[in-house]
Amino acid sequence: MPGAIFAEGLVKTFGDVRALDGVDLDVPEGTVLGLLGPNGAGKTTAVRVLTTLIKPDRGTAVVAGIDVLKKPNEVRRHIGLSGQFAAVDEYLTGRENLRMVGQLYQMSARDAKARAGELLERFHLTDAADRTAKTYSGGMRRRLDLAAALVVSPPVMFMDEPTTGLDPRNRQQLWEVIQELVAGGTTLLLTTQYLEEADHLAHDIAVVDHGKVIARGTSDQLKARTGGERVEVVVHERGHIALADEVLRGFGKGASKVEEHTRMVTVPVSGGAKLLAEVIRELDARGIEIDDIGLRRPTLDDVFISLTGHAAEAEAEPEAEPGDREDRQARERKETAS
Ligand SMILES: Nc1ncnc2c1ncn2[C@@H]1O[C@H](COP(=O)(O)OP(=O)(O)OP(=O)(O)O)[C@@H](O)[C@H]1O
Ligand SMILES: [Mg+2]
Repeated sequence: MPGAIFAEGLVKTFGDVRALDGVDLDVPEGTVLGLLGPNGAGKTTAVRVLTTLIKPDRGTAVVAGIDVLKKPNEVRRHIGLSGQFAAVDEYLTGRENLRMVGQLYQMSARDAKARAGELLERFHLTDAADRTAKTYSGGMRRRLDLAAALVVSPPVMFMDEPTTGLDPRNRQQLWEVIQELVAGGTTLLLTTQYLEEADHLAHDIAVVDHGKVIARGTSDQLKARTGGERVEVVVHERGHIALADEVLRGFGKGASKVEEHTRMVTVPVSGGAKLLAEVIRELDARGIEIDDIGLRRPTLDDVFISLTGHAAEAEAEPEAEPGDREDRQARERKETAS
């Protein structure tokens, strides 16, 4: 049985760009799928197709059991969306923005008011609630936008880079809100550039590049696929780097790596903690003083780099001009409204 979000063979082209080149997704009910991928990979396009904002050229999508292409209006009644670029109405206050959403979803004025108050509290916006959103900082807008997406707790939520631009405390709090939502049965598709976020929140991860899902699995599965553990040693004296490298190569099962400026030598290994103890004894026997040693598992960053050939945030496309963003926001609002 397809999950709460199901897509098969989605293709979407913009001129020469194949933004989606045959994307399949399946998100079981009550779980979180993290969509990762470099800038321009097609994440936002996938979200926009699944949330009925644009039509794919090919493929099928079913959200909350409803066909996205055949019944977009009905799909909209079952989903919540927080887009990559916060879509709040600048000329309304925070409170008015949230009440408006409630009323759009046919809540009574009284319920909409109560819900707005709750969400403002939860997203730490109470003090700014009665100021127009155009006076809000970037992080405040982002929080208001997320609050707006949660006015009616829909069974399926889409969040496109929900914590971009949030400070660490607000990011942590949003994670808690998301975890509560999911514990309550919500299905969530989340895109993020913060691999730690995917690691923390997502049951399953799909890595997208050039419009295709290039890897899929739990965080642990992806890490295991990237290669096993490695030993990392930081020697105390620069003069001991070469010797430490020689020792590590003796234990390694691949090429070692030396980082002169941090005095760090790394080598892939297998054998776990027992091997680590042997490495320490050998370094000691050779009189190499160490500042730090550890057995490291690959991080999701390593997975990302090995799969896509570059780091998550580095090597970005040129930032969209502010004008582009506004155009895009306006377009999204218009498309949502129609
Ligand atoms: N409306 C559009 N018109 C033309 N090209 C578009 C449009 N929307 C997206 N694209 C192109 O499609 C590709 C995928 O874009 P998309 O916004 O889905 O990427 P993304 O994975 O969300 O990237 P980011 O991490 O930067 O948000 C890019 O090459 C982008 O330039
Ligand atoms: Mg995007």
